[in-house]
Formats: sequence, C-alpha cells, structure tokens
Amino acid sequence: MNNRKLYNCRSRLGVGHPRADPDRRRVLAAGLAALWGCTIPSNVSAADTVVLRKAAAEKGLLYGTTISAEQINDDHEFVGLVLQQAGLVVAENDMKWQVMNRGAPGDDDYSPADTVAGFALENGLALRGHNLLWYHRTPSWYFDLATPQEQERAIIERVQHLAGRYRGMVHSWDVVNEPIEPKDGRKDGLRSGVFLETIGPDYLDLAYRVTRETDPTARLVVNEYDVEFDTPEQEARRTALLNLLERMRRSGTPVDAVGIQAHLSCIGGPPFSASRLRRFLADVAGFGLTIQITELDVTDEHAPSDQAIRDRLVADAYRQFLDAALDEPAVKMVVTWGLSDRHSWIVRQETHQSKWRSDGALSRPLPFDADLKAKPAYEGIANAFAHAPGRAVG
Ligand code: G3I
Repeated sequence: MNNRKLYNCRSRLGVGHPRADPDRRRVLAAGLAALWGCTIPSNVSAADTVVLRKAAAEKGLLYGTTISAEQINDDHEFVGLVLQQAGLVVAENDMKWQVMNRGAPGDDDYSPADTVAGFALENGLALRGHNLLWYHRTPSWYFDLATPQEQERAIIERVQHLAGRYRGMVHSWDVVNEPIEPKDGRKDGLRSGVFLETIGPDYLDLAYRVTRETDPTARLVVNEYDVEFDTPEQEARRTALLNLLERMRRSGTPVDAVGIQAHLSCIGGPPFSASRLRRFLADVAGFGLTIQITELDVTDEHAPSDQAIRDRLVADAYRQFLDAALDEPAVKMVVTWGLSDRHSWIVRQETHQSKWRSDGALSRPLPFDADLKAKPAYEGIANAFAHAPGRAVG
C-alpha cells in the first residue's frame, strides 16, 4: 500500500488529526491494522499489557522509537506496534544528509523524510529530527568545498532546507550529532575534521543559531555517545561535553537539551556507575538544559547462548541504566533505537564487529522480539518508568 492510500485509510478512520487522543489512537491503530489485512499481535494488545508511552507519560516522560519510510510503507504490523507503544518517532536514517543527498549540492531526496514526518503528523506523534549535521554522514562533495565561506553556506542551506521544510513540526533537532572526540587530541575535546577543520569551532554556533532562526519552536539538542560508563575515556568525553555547554552558554549559542545516546552492552562492557551517571546528568541540568535519552539499546555479544538468560541480562541493563538516569528530573525523554528486534541496526550487524555474537545467534537488543512479542527488556523499561519519580513535562 502506498503512502497516499495509507493516509487515506487513516483519514477515513479519523486517525489523521495531529491532536488525536492517544487512547483513541490505539483503538484506531487496531482498526487500521484490520483494514490493511494484518493484525496487531495479541500478545502486545492485551489489556493488561503496559503501554510504554503511557507508563512514561504518567511520569512526565515522552517515550519513542526509530522508524523508517520503508517500515511505514511495508511493515504494517510493526507500524501497529509503534502506534500502540510510542508517543514519538525519529527517522533512523532517512533525514541524514548523506542519505538524502543524491551526490550534488542541494540535490536532496526528501520523500523518505517526508514519509516519516507525515506519519508523525498524521498520527499525532512527536517527531525528533535526526540529524542536521553529523561528521559520519556528510555528502562527499562537502569535503571539496575549500573555503570557510563555501562550507558555511552549505551548512546554512542544509539547515534552512531541512529544518525549514518541517518548521513547527519537530519536537527536537539533533543539530550537531557527536561533536566531541577527546581522542582527536584538541584541548577543547571537540571532534576535529569535517566541519571544524575549515570553519573552526564556530561552526557549532552557526548551526545552532541558524536552526533556531529557521524553526524557533524546535528544541535544539547536542547529541553525544559514550558518556554513560565509568571509564577514563568516557569521563574525558563528559568533561569535554560540559566544557562545550559552558562555551555555548558564554557565547549565547542557543541550545535546549543534551541527548545521551546510551548504546549499552548487557555484560562484558565498560563498568557502570549509577552515581557517576547521576552526577553527570545533574551537571548538565545545572546549565538549565533538559536531557533526552536518544538512542537506547542493549547489545548482548558477551551473554551466554541461552536465550532466557540473555533476555534477562538485557532487561537488567535497561533497568539499571534507566533507574539511574530517570532519577534526574531534567530527563524528559526516552527513545529506544528501535522497538522490535525485527528492525535493529544491531541485528542487521551495522555495528562494529566486536558487537556481533560469536555463536552466530541473532542479537536481541530491543523491547520486542522479531515476532513483535514483548520480551523481558520491555518489562525492564516499563518497570523503570513505573518506579521513576514524576517530573514536569519538558
Ligand atoms: O540502505 C543500504 C542497503 O541498500 C544496502 O543493501 C545495505 C548493505 O550494507 O546497506 C544499507 O545501508 C545501511 C543503512 O544503515 C540502512 O540500513 C548502511 O550500510 C549502514 O551503515 C547504516 O547504518 C546506520 C548507521 O547509523 C550509519 O548511518 C544504522 O542503521 C543506524 O542505526 C545508525 O544510527 C546511528 C545514529 O544515527 C547516531 N548515533 C549512533 C547510531 C548507531 O551508529
């Protein structure tokens, strides 16, 4: 079924109103699933199943997941689950610059991104924008722009075109994704190369200011990884990130939130310290910023083969991390990097090979398995939400 048909189905059912009531949405999702000739699996639609977005909302949290245009178009069963469980969606890849770009400046394909944005709007879901700039997914022609002026112009146009297209629709934009890399050896801990090499650290100020001008209602996020664990490397990254926030504050660069990606390992990974994480989150909150957990998932590469044990370890990792993180009232959002193991970058082995299981078994990193059946990880997340202190919605 193409998108137009899909949206027509929705409007016939009255799903299309952006402010559609979330409870009604679940019922309508079931109606939609029937209309599409597929069913929402009974194990997840049972009345006694806690719905993650509701459990989160009761504590002032917004819960969401990744999605893609391909999934929206082709996997209606999965879409039913997303509509049931999530209050927010984020395009896993469809809004990345290099993914959208066809090889020349300004030649971008917006259709997959439009599908994701349209899906969020039509279904009353909040939309995260991921991302405007990321060193890892920048089109190759950008690297041929020799002068700071040319690069600045390209950044301005990228922001104005994408953030402008969805102006007023985006809850939060990851304006610069992963700007920190202490290993690059700079005193300020900023990632060298790509944007910084030619323009200098001011590229950050430019990107955030232009995004604010372009879409004044979107929250502007600095999204970073490897700040969750208790190692000297991650401590260096945390320190560099806090220093960046301090510089942004001094220079009046607009920023509203910090995104903590939280790609975790359930066992055999770096040591975790709840008190260390809490201290860091409190430091971020001290800047007057909110915090979003933006890409939460859990790899199981070192867990035993036994599936029940693996699932329990993954669930425990979710619970341990969320219990610590949600203690901080500035945390307002939890996004898992996928909802079902059917669609996960970990299962697709797009991670570093060190994250793959050596026994050849598929990883089980997300709250629902590949058959959309709730797993212990789902309970781990739901229980963490249930035990979290309430907070003002942010
Ligand atoms: O679409 C092509 C497909 O046509 C081709 O057959 C296949 C062969 O490998 O590749 C497919 O593209 C892959 C794409 O994901 C879509 O699945 C790329 O190889 C793969 O590198 C890409 O990985 C994505 C990665 O970012 C790099 O962009 C992951 O899906 C995505 O989950 C991951 O997400 C990032 C966040 O954006 C930022 N934080 C870290 C996180 C994990 O790396």
